[in-house]
Amino acid sequence: MAERIWIIGASDGIGRELALAYAREGADLILSARGRDKLAEVAAEAGEAEILPLDVADRASIEAAAAAIAAGGKLDRIVHLAALYDPGRIADLDPEKAAQLVTVNLTGSFHIAQVGPRLLRKHGQLALCGSVAGYVGLPQGQIYSATKAGVINLAESLRAERPDVDVRLICPGFVDTRMTRRNRFRMPAIMPADKAAAAIMKGLAGKQFEIHFPHRLTRTLKLIRALPYAASLRLTRRLSRDGD
Ligand SMILES: NC(=O)c1ccc[n+]([C@@H]2O[C@H](COP(=O)([O-])OP(=O)(O)OC[C@H]3O[C@@H](n4cnc5c(N)ncnc54)[C@H](OP(=O)(O)O)[C@@H]3O)[C@@H](O)[C@H]2O)c1
Repeated sequence: MAERIWIIGASDGIGRELALAYAREGADLILSARGRDKLAEVAAEAGEAEILPLDVADRASIEAAAAAIAAGGKLDRIVHLAALYDPGRIADLDPEKAAQLVTVNLTGSFHIAQVGPRLLRKHGQLALCGSVAGYVGLPQGQIYSATKAGVINLAESLRAERPDVDVRLICPGFVDTRMTRRNRFRMPAIMPADKAAAAIMKGLAGKQFEIHFPHRLTRTLKLIRALPYAASLRLTRRLSRDGD
């Protein structure tokens, strides 16, 4: 029987490519994001998919989507990718925009972590999306990176609390989407969104808690994270001076 999959953040970037890739495998898809028109375009390209527009910052819109999903039966997977990106130096950030990022990226993931499990079949999968940006605090990455560190922590807690759910964490490196197209710095090992979607699909079909890629970038950052602060902060401060 076809897998029933809910992808949140499916109208663009990685989520769009993931939806098209699962559609090619014959999945029964439910696609969510804020913009109905773009979702409808992805659904048309996918062949057939249900669209349920929502805003992850708005709990009522998530509950409404959840009720519609529950009426159609249980899900096999939920992949939550919706997020906003507007990084900068702490001193330069607009506090209202910063609060919006926290609400969408972190509180939004919390809503899906709370609502998602009851929509899944037993041992169904719930994947949240962190980022390598959440591994270690780097200069000019706030407040996005702090929200992604929060999502990593949230996924770890959910994994510990819910043995009945196959909780996963996705941590991409740089992927070429509208999100990164505004970056004005060199992005090491940047990859196309369809390749990122393929890596995510492969990882979700496997057994590892964390799906991270590309390894040459993720392993370097994991190494920096594992260093004592005396060493890691010296490295990150040097990055800050390089950016001046
Ligand atoms: N691109 C990268 O290099 C990179 C690296 C590491 C991690 N990530 C993570 O990967 C995920 C996907 O990123 P991407 O690059 O594919 O981003 P993207 O191209 O900007 O797509 C983001 C998706 O999320 C939806 N979305 C945004 N705000 C939403 C909200 N409030 N409620 C519901 N849906 C919302 C967008 O549609 P609407 O605007 O219509 O709502 C869109 O479908 C994100 O979690 C991101 O943090 C990306």
